[in-house]
Amino acid sequence: MTTTPISAVRGMNDVLPEAGEAWDFLERTVLRCLRQYGYRPIRMPLVERTELFVRSIGEVTDIVEKEMYTFTDRLNGDSLTLRPEGTASCVRAALEHNLLYAGPQRLYYLGPMFRHERPQKGRYRQFHQVGVEALGFSGPDIDAEVIIMCARMWRALGLSDVSLELNTLGDPQARARYRARLVAYLERHCNALDEDSKRRLHANPLRVLDSKNPAMQEIVERAPRMADDLDEPSLAHFEAVQAALRRAQVGFTINPRLVRGLDYYNRTVFEWLTGKLGAQAAVCAGGRYDGLVEHLGGKPAPACGFAMGVERLIALLEAERVTIPTRVPDCYVVHQGDAAADFAWQVCERLREQTLSVILHCGGGSFKTQLRKADASGARYAIVIGEDEARAAKVGLKPLREAAAQMLVDVDEVADLVVGVRRLSGAHDGSR
Ligand code: HAM
Repeated sequence: MTTTPISAVRGMNDVLPEAGEAWDFLERTVLRCLRQYGYRPIRMPLVERTELFVRSIGEVTDIVEKEMYTFTDRLNGDSLTLRPEGTASCVRAALEHNLLYAGPQRLYYLGPMFRHERPQKGRYRQFHQVGVEALGFSGPDIDAEVIIMCARMWRALGLSDVSLELNTLGDPQARARYRARLVAYLERHCNALDEDSKRRLHANPLRVLDSKNPAMQEIVERAPRMADDLDEPSLAHFEAVQAALRRAQVGFTINPRLVRGLDYYNRTVFEWLTGKLGAQAAVCAGGRYDGLVEHLGGKPAPACGFAMGVERLIALLEAERVTIPTRVPDCYVVHQGDAAADFAWQVCERLREQTLSVILHCGGGSFKTQLRKADASGARYAIVIGEDEARAAKVGLKPLREAAAQMLVDVDEVADLVVGVRRLSGAHDGSR
């Protein structure tokens, strides 16, 4: 039998308890915000039929061409894929369960996504998104709402190095007009295109503009601009989104080169970028995708959404030195002797009933060792239970974070005393 340790798969990371505190903080802050705007939770499977992503994201995209974890179902030979993003699954679920019959839906989900990319800082093979999809809304107000909601989330998280870039891709006809002009331009410069771009020239020319190859930058820079082909309704829609953002004092810059890496978008597209994370600057991205519901077999319905990259936001919290409120336990219960152990169990459950967080010492040891553990746990109080306390049905309450004497108190007094002190000292982040 070999005993070589088994490590995690490349590009798929563990989140250890200390970082876990930041993840918890991010999730509860973002979720609180989503609830404030009336978004409701939806959870989709991690595995979907491959066809769903091919049809939604587009055949000639990096994700579908080279990044999907696709495998064959052993029993029936179906082609299945670990989800690389959540929009396609969310729309599929909404259609499968007729959610749109009840009217427009504001939905959110969170969880892991999988893309077989070259792992580097901020780019992983398993990463996490919080995604938002507003299905069935056609007006510019919802585009503005999802963006303004992002701005509120950044404030709530204490982040400041995030800026917004916006663009509009117009309607499908505008895209077709632009596409024709772009193809003609790229054909004229065919010799200067790299292999990827040559392949995309006819299949998905807009993606050529997204090339990260430095040698392609001049061609990209000089390419015709989409603005000249845009249709009036899309321009008016875009104007209205911008006006709403100005009213809400959310700053932005227009980036006519912003095209996004997934094919389902039309009209408004946006990215939130930071200058603090090097090449992986996009912490959140999204836009409108009015054609997807119909494309996936539903009655036509407009839609708009975004997804934020949790790993990148966690890295940004660290880069911006945001203090993460940690949740320390209220009490750590130490005990010695059989009767004390029995009583300690009852005390713990009683205090938890009263919403305190309580760690019961497990594993025995002298009071001295147990109290050392109590101190290391970060708890505000040790609750000391010996045979005497157990007999008197009382507990010793020993403050651990201030120089005060141990008191003998009734169990029912503990919660009041601890909560009172917690309130006075603002010891918690107020999230429970
Ligand atoms: P996306 O731009 O592919 O859009 O991903 C959204 C965000 O997920 C990115 O801005 C980035 O923060 C994060 N992300 C993407 N790939 C990785 C990776 N390999 N490692 C770490 N983070 C990553 C979508 O996924 C769309 N479904 C967004 C959307 C929702 N549009 C409309 N609704």
